[in-house]
Amino acid sequence: MLKVSYSSVESHATNFDRLGFTVVVDVAPFVGNWLRQVHSADISPRLVELTESQRSHCSGRGDARSFIYDRFQTDVILPEINSFYKSVCPLAGEVAGRSLVVSPFERSAYSVKIYEPRTCEMGWHLDTNSITVLLYVTTNVGGQTEIRCLDGIVRDVKPVAGNLLIMDGTVCEHRSRIVESAEKIVCLLNYYNEGECHRDSAMDKLAFGLPSSGEVKADA
Ligand SMILES: [Fe+2]
Repeated sequence: MLKVSYSSVESHATNFDRLGFTVVVDVAPFVGNWLRQVHSADISPRLVELTESQRSHCSGRGDARSFIYDRFQTDVILPEINSFYKSVCPLAGEVAGRSLVVSPFERSAYSVKIYEPRTCEMGWHLDTNSITVLLYVTTNVGGQTEIRCLDGIVRDVKPVAGNLLIMDGTVCEHRSRIVESAEKIVCLLNYYNEGECHRDSAMDKLAFGLPSSGEVKADA
């Protein structure tokens, strides 16, 4: 499913080391199907509107508004995502130069986020999971992911369907800008450093309206 050559992994590891992120282009040509599956979903996503003070656990600045499907809903809409999630784990680990594991926190292991045009965004913040991977399902005008890189320079990643952003969101502050035209859809994949799986249970309550389902392996 993932077409990334070894030499290309090396160059991504170099990028990641220098900047704190890298983008693997055109790694998921099947996202056109995933977009259709999201659009034809029978279940509605949850609207998440968070203020800056609610986001303080992740050093949040500014408000956040988006629609989200948690992992369990995502499994229904995109049955293929679990195997994709697991196949990205070793790639992300190789790029980041460390041993990564899939999330032991089921509900937040992966999700689908939808940003409606002109009203949705995500303010500056740090992540609490060790490595964050975003699979862009849509190509957008605006809606770029802005990342304050390890060298202090802020760089833009434009949403391009099928591209994969691999980022250390624990050290690189980042945000999602407002989308100017059509909606932006991303799959958010969370990974942890082996032996360092911590998650504030309040986060799932804020994001999903439900507590974390606990430390159950994502492939259980
Ligand atoms: Fe983030």
